[in-house]
Amino acid sequence: MAMREPEKPLHASVWRGGERGRFQSYEVPRQDAQTVLDVVTWIQRRVDPSLAYRFACRVGMCGSCAMTVNGIPRWTCRTHVARVAVDDRLEIAPLANLPIVRDLVVDMSEFFDKWARAKGRFVPTATRHDDFARVRPDSPPRRDADEAIQCIGCAVCYAACDVVAWNPDYLGPAALNRSWTLIRDARDGARRERLAAVAGDAGCHACHTQGMCSERCPTHLSPTASIAGLKRASVVAALRGQL
Ligand code: SF4
Ligand code: SF4
Ligand code: FES
Repeated sequence: MAMREPEKPLHASVWRGGERGRFQSYEVPRQDAQTVLDVVTWIQRRVDPSLAYRFACRVGMCGSCAMTVNGIPRWTCRTHVARVAVDDRLEIAPLANLPIVRDLVVDMSEFFDKWARAKGRFVPTATRHDDFARVRPDSPPRRDADEAIQCIGCAVCYAACDVVAWNPDYLGPAALNRSWTLIRDARDGARRERLAAVAGDAGCHACHTQGMCSERCPTHLSPTASIAGLKRASVVAALRGQL
């Protein structure tokens, strides 16, 4: 009986160090159903325990494992090596558009600061003495926000956005998407302030609508559609003299 050829190892180039770091090469044995996160974990456990990276759930729920794989931002726990390796090679780097802390870990502070700048915090109008608000699932505002509320803040869309790369001040797809979910929330009491916060130069009107954020979002959300909603709502508010 013919012996099965051992599978060729994977050649992984992994970013090491800070902004001025460099790629380092590792040979990693192939496994069935191996994910990019498995590759990073194998290197950290078997070769170099100082390799810094982040993950939590391993099942596509937390978003913390996002990295750049062969130039594309992805959740590494949901990305199979067999799908993305080119000639048994993988390049694994930290997410783009965010400062590198070390190796594959980025500093998410400015990403979440932008959620705050876009007024991404719910402002209640009811008190604890009021009855629960009833939001009909088939009402147009709720349907507008239906998908967008599923965002888990992984920053894959932010890393894919070229306007963020050109203009670091730009609020970016995730913060604007969050803002849209609140604008369409009938219970929220800060609609006008929120529209004013996202209508400025670095807000929704800076988006060129080409949709790379939506193409890359692992949950198949469409920040582009949310941003288009913000553009419409802010123009209407401006025409009514509300901004
Ligand atoms: S559609 Fe807008 S937010 Fe999305 S990637 Fe393009 S510029 Fe960025
Ligand atoms: S919109 Fe998608 S890609 Fe962007 S942060 Fe939310 S889940 Fe991640
Ligand atoms: S580890 Fe949670 S999404 Fe990948």
